[in-house]
Amino acid sequence: MLKNSLIYFILSNLIQFLFLIEINCQTTPFKPTNRHLHTATFVDNKLYILSGFDDSVDAVAGAGTAGNQFFYLDTSVSFKTQSLLWHDLTNINIVPSYIGATSVKGGTNNKTIILYGGRNLTNVENMALVYMFDTQTNSWNVPQMTGENYIRRRSLTAITDYNGKIYLFGGVLIGDDSFVNDMLIFDTINLSWGKGSSLNAPVPRINYGAVILPNKNIIYIGGMNSLNESLPLDEVYIYDTINDNWSTKETSGLIPSNRDGLSAILGLDGQQIIIFGGGQQVGVAEITIPNDALYTLNINTFEWNIPNISGEIPRARIYHKANIIGKYMVISFGEGYNNSIESDILLLDISNNDEFTWKTKFVIPLTPATIAGITVGTLLGGILFILFGVLLFKDKIRN
Ligand SMILES: *[C@@H]1O[C@H](CO)[C@@H](O)[C@H](O)[C@H]1NC(C)=O
Ligand SMILES: *[C@@H]1O[C@H](CO)[C@@H](O)[C@H](O)[C@H]1NC(C)=O
Ligand SMILES: *[C@@H]1O[C@H](CO)[C@@H](O)[C@H](O)[C@H]1NC(C)=O
Ligand SMILES: *[C@@H]1O[C@H](CO)[C@@H](O)[C@H](O)[C@H]1NC(C)=O
Ligand SMILES: *[C@@H]1O[C@H](CO)[C@@H](O)[C@H](O)[C@H]1NC(C)=O
Ligand SMILES: *[C@@H]1O[C@H](CO)[C@@H](O)[C@H](O)[C@H]1NC(C)=O
Ligand SMILES: *[C@@H]1O[C@H](CO)[C@@H](O)[C@H](O)[C@H]1NC(C)=O
Repeated sequence: MLKNSLIYFILSNLIQFLFLIEINCQTTPFKPTNRHLHTATFVDNKLYILSGFDDSVDAVAGAGTAGNQFFYLDTSVSFKTQSLLWHDLTNINIVPSYIGATSVKGGTNNKTIILYGGRNLTNVENMALVYMFDTQTNSWNVPQMTGENYIRRRSLTAITDYNGKIYLFGGVLIGDDSFVNDMLIFDTINLSWGKGSSLNAPVPRINYGAVILPNKNIIYIGGMNSLNESLPLDEVYIYDTINDNWSTKETSGLIPSNRDGLSAILGLDGQQIIIFGGGQQVGVAEITIPNDALYTLNINTFEWNIPNISGEIPRARIYHKANIIGKYMVISFGEGYNNSIESDILLLDISNNDEFTWKTKFVIPLTPATIAGITVGTLLGGILFILFGVLLFKDKIRN
């Protein structure tokens, strides 16, 4: 009898406890607004998302900022794209609402988000040029920098060489709206500005795809020019970060249509670029987003190809971001999908070059630590299960 009520006590408390956890998870989920031209930075198992443009906010004006929302997705645990658990950091954000900025990981600890450029919707210049977010202390700061004070730009893609330097090519100057094709170089460790060569650089452009290759060359793909024309992908441009020089490569194969607002990443084998999405400007503020969203570019032969794809193919997107996390190309937000039907996050498993697979579940890789964790968890669970079983069984017999 005593034992019976003890079991009842433990079980009911356990159920209540689990119920509470469930309630807590359900009552406080952070739901980000629509956005594109945001930033997405992957640092230390967290994908940080900041600001962007939300054209669902003001249907009359057709545009609004996504506010200063700042949040992250924890990728140290498995998750489903239809039930994302975002962690909200908006209350510690000091960066004003803006669009068209760019971000990379860098800094002395190599765990700092470096945010550069962008504008707010009124083009007012009172934002700092650079903001830094130290993910170890969860704090933002505005760095004191040295070197020439270049005019802020927007709508470009920062690339890091993974040794603390970032490369900022092209974009639009804030203030006079002119398109440029110069190469700014910012050292995120000693916080000094410099400039690279523009000799043989491609024509001024914004919203292109860019990736650093294992040989420290940066490849630039597509984008939009100052005439609002989406640029062709029959050639790509290589900037050599070691020798500070440019060259142009003709591409062949299944060349994608002209596009800007695309994303590009390096495949896991380091031998191909994978691009996703983007669109073609067809008139003032009118864009077609082609369905053939995924292509690969072999970085040795510069041949384009369409990969084999399985899984449920999502709508293509423009002005989204892409990060490599584990074996996935992780697409975040963008324009071109209905977020009450499709998740803000898309996962493309790129671990098999013969066939990429769209997935809805992010599965963390089994490292020795996670295996140990799962084993201990399963063992504990098993022991508890058996213990309860034995107690109940004993009780049954006695009754
Ligand atoms: C742009 O920044 C200025 C200065 O901070 C601010 O007054 C204005 O409201 C901002 N505009 C938008 C649309 O956020
Ligand atoms: C910074 O981290 C990246 C991994 O994301 C690594 O490849 C790189 O070597 C690191 N750089 C430095 C300077 O530690
Ligand atoms: C910062 O480091 C770069 C090398 O990345 C060097 O060229 C530059 O002179 C340094 N600047 C300062 C102010 O120390
Ligand atoms: C490009 O489009 C913008 C609106 O998106 C417009 O203000 C501008 O005049 C256009 N420029 C050209 C050269 O057509
Ligand atoms: C830059 O110059 C070096 C030395 O002349 C050359 O080996 C390299 O291929 C050039 N890089 C590019 C991207 O043209
Ligand atoms: C998005 O999908 C929902 C649910 O099907 C629908 O009610 C809504 O009208 C759609 N929104 C747009 C902009 O198509
Ligand atoms: C698609 O898969 C077939 C085998 O099923 C393979 O021969 C072919 O190379 C793959 N295509 C690409 C572009 O990877």
